[in-house]
Amino acid sequence: MKHLLKMLDLSKEEIIGILNLADQLKYEQKHGIKHPRLQGKTLGMIFQKSSTRTRVSFEVGMYQLGGSALFLSSHDLQIGRGEPVQDTARVLSRFLDGIMIRTYAQQEVEDLAKYGSIPVINGLTDFCHPCQVLADLMTIREYKGSFDGLKMCYIGDGNNMANSLIVGGLKVGMKVSIACPKDYQPDAQILAFTEDYPGKFQMTDNVLEAAKDADVLLTDVWASMGQEEEKALREKVFDGYQINAEVVAAAKRDVMVLHCLPAHRGEEITADVLEAHADEIFDEAENRLHAQKAVLVKVMGGNQ
Ligand code: CP
Ligand code: NVA
Repeated sequence: MKHLLKMLDLSKEEIIGILNLADQLKYEQKHGIKHPRLQGKTLGMIFQKSSTRTRVSFEVGMYQLGGSALFLSSHDLQIGRGEPVQDTARVLSRFLDGIMIRTYAQQEVEDLAKYGSIPVINGLTDFCHPCQVLADLMTIREYKGSFDGLKMCYIGDGNNMANSLIVGGLKVGMKVSIACPKDYQPDAQILAFTEDYPGKFQMTDNVLEAAKDADVLLTDVWASMGQEEEKALREKVFDGYQINAEVVAAAKRDVMVLHCLPAHRGEEITADVLEAHADEIFDEAENRLHAQKAVLVKVMGGNQ
């Protein structure tokens, strides 16, 4: 695996390989077994949007793997003043061993990988959030034991999270349902991808129908980063696209509830459901660290 640009690029075997290594690294960390698999390596982390989990987990992850990480805010980089990504990629490739980037356009991440000569990891774009979904899959497998026969349901905006969850969920063998308003469906490329999984994918604007008998319920904010100006409109459009007690009751009795965070209580999830499922949701947040360390080792660590 050279890069992690989007879930669409990964085979099922690559996804399972990352999850297995993530479980192993988590086990080693919990048992105090040091694992400096990236000794002396440096990751550059370019952030054009805010972050709590992604920034901290990548930085700590690199440290735990024996390497180091540089936080590169677009406010300070020349990229923020218009230096082309093609040039940034070639320059950073001379200094670093890998780049993690959080930005708007997916094309920017693809270009960074194309023009640079070092591994690139997508830390979120408007199109997708593969690191988050790898952590979500890791958490689902941790709680449920396997993906066999599971139904995963996503409620809300057909955004970067929806795009990545649909691909990740279907690739590992789950059924996937999504409830979203008609004008806020996932990307056309993702909907085309689902056609390879007949009978496994359902899309509706009816929340309870999507949630019926689900083993896992997920949601995300109604207005993503970069959509702040649409907030008032989106509050109207997404009214009802919420994980609440009624939606949980429509799912299986032992349903898991996950949220990539940050959460907006009272919007896409109620406070009571979030608190009732806090163990799962914060294990999910912790698993960002383990899943990303596995990705870092896979792309930057040779054959380890
Ligand atoms: N879930 C997630 O990516 O969180 P941050 O925006 O805090 O990195
Ligand atoms: N859809 C959200 C995810 C945040 C982790 C956003 O892009 O802001």
